[in-house]
Amino acid sequence: MASFQRAFLTGASSGLGAELARQLARRGTEVVVTARRRARLDALVAEITAAGGRARAETLDVRDADAVRALVARLDVELGGFDLVVANAGVGLATRAAELTWEQVDETFAVNLRGAAATLLAGRDAMLPRGRGTLCAITSLAATRGMPTSGAYCASKAGLATFVETLEIELRATGLRFVDVQPGFVVSEMTDKNTGHMPLLMQTAPAVARIVRGLERGDSVVAFPRRMAWPLRTLGKLMPRALWRFLSRRAAGS
Ligand SMILES: NC(=O)c1ccc[n+]([C@@H]2O[C@H](COP(=O)([O-])OP(=O)(O)OC[C@H]3O[C@@H](n4cnc5c(N)ncnc54)[C@H](OP(=O)(O)O)[C@@H]3O)[C@@H](O)[C@H]2O)c1
Repeated sequence: MASFQRAFLTGASSGLGAELARQLARRGTEVVVTARRRARLDALVAEITAAGGRARAETLDVRDADAVRALVARLDVELGGFDLVVANAGVGLATRAAELTWEQVDETFAVNLRGAAATLLAGRDAMLPRGRGTLCAITSLAATRGMPTSGAYCASKAGLATFVETLEIELRATGLRFVDVQPGFVVSEMTDKNTGHMPLLMQTAPAVARIVRGLERGDSVVAFPRRMAWPLRTLGKLMPRALWRFLSRRAAGS
């Protein structure tokens, strides 16, 4: 089981990212927490430090790929090398296809896909010369297939999942590890805004404990909860499109 010395996390001002920072710090990892809401990050750093952990806050908007690249490169040198980089920042709002705007699609792709890819490439550049380190993307079970009210979100997560898989195919021999984390529904600010039914909704802490376990084991894919992940990732993937469309529309009540 690997534990991590130094981690760089995006989207750590709330939800899964903040809890991941707490749990890693408790296990001895020095964490760099980034996001746009600085006050939230400062409060998280104070909390981690008070509990005896090591943390540092940096303001970062992942839509700015140059800023992502520059920050990871600078801190990697300053702190002595990241062995874990997590592309966690994400946005998602349920919107019916008939009402979906270009601005929503553009923002979702900019954060969830372009921002995450920029983060992973920045981590790759830092870690490749050392020939070790873990690059993790928080995708979603929504990456599996198209789902009602989630067109842009599903597409962004499917894109990110295949991006990570490709990096892994090509770069695993270099010593780098790649982890695609695919959660179902987890309590966070994102799901707080969701008014629809969220089957098997998990609390944040146990969901993140599941992620930490997968990261430490070096799993390629960490998909949970199992009761949702297994059927979706096996039967769901194989299901003919017409049957998937029928079942999805029924589940969405449309
Ligand atoms: N909760 C779930 O059920 C669930 C399920 C599957 C996958 N996920 C994925 O898990 C990840 C974390 O989501 P969450 O559920 O924890 O939601 P959350 O509480 O809303 O957290 C989202 C995080 O992303 C950050 N963020 C958003 N836009 C950003 C930008 N432009 N630049 C930098 N940071 C940005 C936010 O920070 P600022 O606003 O401060 O920038 C926040 O820290 C996301 O990728 C999400 O898609 C969540």
